[in-house]
Parts: sequence; C-alpha cells; structure tokens
Amino acid sequence: MKLLHVDSSILGPGSVSRHLSAAVVAAQRAAHPGLEVSRLDLASDPIGHLSGLHLAAQQGTAPEAPALQADVAAGEAALTAFLAADIVVVGAPMYNFGIPSQLKAWVDRLAVAGRTFRYTETGVEGLAGDKKLIIASSRGGFYGAETPAAFLDHQENYLRGVFGFFGITDVTFIRAEGVALGEAERQQAIEGAEAEIKKLAA
Ligand SMILES: Cc1cc2nc3c(=O)[nH]c(=O)nc-3n(C[C@H](O)[C@H](O)[C@H](O)COP(=O)(O)O)c2cc1C
Repeated sequence: MKLLHVDSSILGPGSVSRHLSAAVVAAQRAAHPGLEVSRLDLASDPIGHLSGLHLAAQQGTAPEAPALQADVAAGEAALTAFLAADIVVVGAPMYNFGIPSQLKAWVDRLAVAGRTFRYTETGVEGLAGDKKLIIASSRGGFYGAETPAAFLDHQENYLRGVFGFFGITDVTFIRAEGVALGEAERQQAIEGAEAEIKKLAA
C-alpha cells in the first residue's frame, strides 16, 4: 500500500498543518504495517506554475528547451506519484482565504484530461476515485457553515471540489481552526485535531 505525503506550508517547523499531516502519516504507518510513504514538500521543492509553453510541450508543439523538458518531467512525476498512491495526505493551510500558491501549482499538474478526469457524452467523469484523501487543514479564523465568514472559505471548499472532480469521494478533513486567536485557542485547536487523527486511525 502506498501513501503520498504532501506539505505546502511556508511556516517551517512552526506550521500547524505540517504538524498535523505528520501525525496523520504516523498514525497511518502504525495502522498499515509495510506502508510505502513518499514525500513531497512543495515549500522546499516547489513545482513551477503552469505556462503556455508547458501546455504546448505536453501537446508536443513546444521547442525542445531543456528547462521546459525538466519542468514537464517534474509535472509528470507529481501526477504519477499522485495516481500511484492509495492514500494521499495533504497539509493545506489557509492563506488569504485560499490555499498556498505552491499547493495550487501542484493541483494544476494533477488536473490533466485523460489522467484524473475526462469529459464524456454524459458529463465529466473522475478517473482517480480509487484513493483515500486526508487533508490536514489549518486556519487562523473560523469558517464553518454557521459562521459569518463561511463564504470566504476558498480553501477546504476548493479542495473538496477539485478532488471530487477527480472522482475522489473518500475525503476526510482534519481541521485546526481559530489558531490565530491566541495561544490557548491554538493549542485547543491542535489537540482537537490530534484527537480526530487518533479516531481516524482506530
Ligand atoms: C500568508 C498567510 C496568510 C494567511 N491568511 C489567512 C486567512 O486568509 N484566513 C485565516 O483564517 N488565516 C490566515 N492565515 C493564518 C493561517 O491560516 C494559520 O496561521 C495556519 O496555521 C497556517 O497553517 P500553517 O501553520 O500550516 O502554515 C494566514 C497566514 C499566513 C502566513
């Protein structure tokens, strides 16, 4: 069984989502002996933004520039690792009401017609539904459906939407929110999320 562990926080060791995604992976390792874990740190090893040249290279119409070929290869490697994983764990902070641009750049390399989705006569069909997705979400404020800021949640809503588009229905959010409201609130949010992680692995 294969697990892909992705992080995207730019806050290094102080990151809440990194702490939680690592705890999820540790719990999954304990629950599945022999689990093969691969790692993608999008802050230290970012994937480039999509460009017109990149798309042209995918279609075989761009010049054979070495830098471009390396970029296409990096995108293909990211997509292959995603498709091969049975479990994908993503550390996903909220930055400016959305996800970090590093994480968006990764998602852009996954959204490839014929690989993660396809259009059919009856509509869109997701092609990557054979995996479990666990998202470690961290955010400074509160964005639940009952809160006044719910409409600003372009982080979890986006991730649920795009991975749903890829056909993934087994999606769990481990959430620490309100972490910017004070040290006690931050600690409480992290402990609550850690308790959810233990339940998830049980
Ligand atoms: C660049 C930046 C932008 C942020 N934007 C928001 C935001 O729009 N809404 C919010 O509730 N918190 C925001 N925060 C707070 C983070 O969501 C919070 O610190 C969270 O723990 C970040 O996850 P991380 O610790 O894994 O990086 C922001 C933090 C940073 C560093």
